[in-house]
Amino acid sequence: MALVDAALRAIIATQKLSYAATVNPDGTPNLSPKGSIEAWDDRHVICADIASPATVRNLRANPAIEINVLDPFSRRGYRIRGRGTVKDAGPELEAVKGALTRRFGDLYPVTGVVVVEVTAVRAVVSPSYMFDPGAEESAIRREWMGIYKARPVEAD
Ligand SMILES: Cc1cc2nc3c(=O)[nH]c(=O)nc-3n(C[C@H](O)[C@H](O)[C@H](O)COP(=O)(O)O)c2cc1C
Repeated sequence: MALVDAALRAIIATQKLSYAATVNPDGTPNLSPKGSIEAWDDRHVICADIASPATVRNLRANPAIEINVLDPFSRRGYRIRGRGTVKDAGPELEAVKGALTRRFGDLYPVTGVVVVEVTAVRAVVSPSYMFDPGAEESAIRREWMGIYKARPVEAD
């Protein structure tokens, strides 16, 4: 059974921002944004190492990783658990480099790729769905798109 299924692929493709948690040497959590997440196959996701020294250091010592990817409008997403390996060559590296180059040219120095062997995927939803039995995704999406749209472009 595919752990990286069509629903998870869709959210990764549309959101393009995830948060990756690894374990620091002292056991504390390290939570780090990763905009380069891509689905690789039905058991792996990948992201670029551009500027993630602590994530890479942690994975080399302990492969435990959990990644969150959420749609802030529908208030739904996934928690991806797995084992992360850092590679400095190979098709996964070429894939993340290619995706970043198509979007941003050669702006980013990609020094490696984190390849996550996915061991579990759990859907996660906002409490909006849990505590309001009539909650409809379309209404929640409209409400939150309005909230984001109403935000001033410049912070005061
Ligand atoms: C929106 C956003 C997206 C980012 N995407 C990536 C990424 O895909 N790869 C990367 O290496 N760093 C990325 N970064 C930068 C790292 O998150 C940042 O350098 C962080 O401090 C690294 O922490 P770490 O060493 O604990 O991983 C991103 C930062 C932001 C704010």
